[in-house]
Amino acid sequence: MSPLNVLQVFGLLKMPIIGLGTWQINGKDLEISLEAALEAGYRSIDTATFYQNEDVIGRVVKRWIDAGKLKRDDLYIVTKLPPSLMRPEDVEPCLRSSLEKLQVDYVDLYLVHVPFAFRNVSGQMVPITEKGRIDMDKSTDHIAIWKMMEKMVDKKMTKDIGLSNFNISQIERVLSHARIPPVNLQVELHVFNQQNKLVNYCRKHNISVTSYSTFASPGCKGIAVIPKSKDPERVKSNFDIFDFVLDDDEMKELNDLDADPPIRVLDMTMFPGIKEHPEYPW
Ligand SMILES: NC(=O)c1ccc[n+]([C@@H]2O[C@H](COP(=O)([O-])OP(=O)(O)OC[C@H]3O[C@@H](n4cnc5c(N)ncnc54)[C@H](OP(=O)(O)O)[C@@H]3O)[C@@H](O)[C@H]2O)c1
Repeated sequence: MSPLNVLQVFGLLKMPIIGLGTWQINGKDLEISLEAALEAGYRSIDTATFYQNEDVIGRVVKRWIDAGKLKRDDLYIVTKLPPSLMRPEDVEPCLRSSLEKLQVDYVDLYLVHVPFAFRNVSGQMVPITEKGRIDMDKSTDHIAIWKMMEKMVDKKMTKDIGLSNFNISQIERVLSHARIPPVNLQVELHVFNQQNKLVNYCRKHNISVTSYSTFASPGCKGIAVIPKSKDPERVKSNFDIFDFVLDDDEMKELNDLDADPPIRVLDMTMFPGIKEHPEYPW
């Protein structure tokens, strides 16, 4: 791991404290953003099968490795099992396909993207029924899926495994059956939704936390962040965060912004009807 990276300070997982988010960016925009990020010193990249951009990331990463500017183990690559492939038999083929697209032999962290599942309808990421509702698979079995996630570690296709968008009772269920416990939880976390109860729970169970949709986050001490930008100047300035410290008053001001009830940017209702899924987390 490059000395340029600041490592996470709690949890079993040592990961860069800042990475590049890549949701809703693809093609040339992503190539430009990722090139700017690698030039600025980012070494962590967050992607997902759902984002349909792993092939672009793979091309840029290969270019850097072929040019001798990077080695594979300088990088920290995260990808995720999508809701349409949330079944045990889909885990290995899905990760294998991610590795092919990313042009790597392993990822550093493989996450279960969401706790709920869609049906796999001809490979569509977001299958919609004739009634305009999300085509759900309500038979979701977190334990069976986790057993396959563990096998991905055994097969060295990923170094670590974790969860995303799971609530405390869902994490608890996985933990109580896990041979290899989740090392990371990726969730929405920012000043208006600071998730103190969830973060403290994770801390207690040695699960590191990554914040998504972070902007305006209160320093996020001990929490990794993965800001996304298609603008190379913003990509650079988002990484330029290690030369200042917030004082106690500034921290208090930010901590006081925590909203009750929390303001959630991404409640997944872009998937129509998803709240009816038995594993909808909120
Ligand atoms: N696990 C999950 O379910 C999940 C869900 C959501 C996100 N994520 C991950 O987390 C990453 C970050 O979350 P996000 O993409 O939702 O939101 P975000 O990174 O908090 O915000 C991205 C937005 O902020 C803008 N921005 C970036 N830098 C800026 C700057 N310096 N000044 C002003 N505006 C700036 C970007 O615009 P421009 O691009 O125009 O600069 C973009 O519109 C995602 O890309 C993805 O990798 C994971």
